[in-house]
Amino acid sequence: MKTPDHKKQTILAALNKGEFISGQELGEQLGISRAAIAKHIAALQEMGVDIFRVNGRGYKLNYSLPLIHQSKLNTLWQQQFQSECPIEYQAIIDSTNSELMRRLQDKQNMGSGHVLVAEMQQAGRGRRGRVWQSPFGANLYYSYYWQFDAGMQAAMGLSIAVGLAVYDALKALYDISVELKWPNDIYLNQQKLAGILVELEGQVEGPCHLVIGIGLNICMPESASKHIDQAWTDLQTHLGQIDKNQLVVQLTHSLSERLAQYKESGLSEMVTEWNSLNAFKGDAVTLSTGQREWRGICEGIDMQGGLLLRQDGELKAFYGGEISLRKVIS
Ligand code: ATP
Ligand code: BTN
Repeated sequence: MKTPDHKKQTILAALNKGEFISGQELGEQLGISRAAIAKHIAALQEMGVDIFRVNGRGYKLNYSLPLIHQSKLNTLWQQQFQSECPIEYQAIIDSTNSELMRRLQDKQNMGSGHVLVAEMQQAGRGRRGRVWQSPFGANLYYSYYWQFDAGMQAAMGLSIAVGLAVYDALKALYDISVELKWPNDIYLNQQKLAGILVELEGQVEGPCHLVIGIGLNICMPESASKHIDQAWTDLQTHLGQIDKNQLVVQLTHSLSERLAQYKESGLSEMVTEWNSLNAFKGDAVTLSTGQREWRGICEGIDMQGGLLLRQDGELKAFYGGEISLRKVIS
């Protein structure tokens, strides 16, 4: 399934005006029965769209959905950068990261900087095989392809640069300051707002291909949030209505800038900045790999993007994206 069928799209567009609309009225607009409308509504709810019904008034969306339009992306990009828009939109996909990884494996030609965004992921992935809740329309599901010639080893600190790019985009658009949790999470008000999943293919020293995935919560519906097992938040709670097209364009620009900086000078210019945004700065934390656990005080990151932990007065650096960092609750 690549897009919701025409009838569901028409129902969504009608509901997205924000008012109640009866099954009768929707049925008349579409030339189908109320029972058929009810079936389409049930299917949309199944996709994670937060629609409710009140007897005698009809259907309503709990909040309007910040939907993406390819034409709006193109126009915004053209206006701001006077070049061809590198952002591709697909309504429904298994996972934007999986799709770009498949294209790499199939040796399809993609320009570095190509972006894929979707309105829904049927198999959204977090780190270590975790599920990334990806209900229709509600959040941002975003992947950026980047070719990096210095090799895998040099790409180690990349999620640090990506975290800063998300910070830059949100600061530029909404003047909010998010905090960063090593290695790959974005926090707002001490709750998880976004996650980063970097996947790579290539050689240890030769050119490598990276897919940078970002999931950013915008207006998470109750049906999806009940599956999230930690404190989370979304942008709409703090900012009200969001224009997702504008966010996608800004994020792409901010990422390109940070990646260029990373290519030029690695993390050398970013470490101090990242440390000032460290969500667990000076806190007692636990690092765990599943098999082993370390406790200490979180002192920020080093030049390679490793986490610095102070244990009995000594600083020790930890590397690798498969480590879990948690604050010790006292
Ligand atoms: P740790 O680093 O301690 O393992 P983490 O938050 O970094 O924790 P990840 O695997 O990176 O773990 O991220 C997945 C987690 O993010 C989920 O288990 C869930 O708790 C949380 N989360 C926040 N928003 C979402 C979302 N939209 N979909 C899925 N999970 C979300
Ligand atoms: C995390 O575990 O915190 C990382 C979550 C990354 C989610 C994004 S959504 C877009 C891209 N596609 C995926 O399947 N995952 C990433």
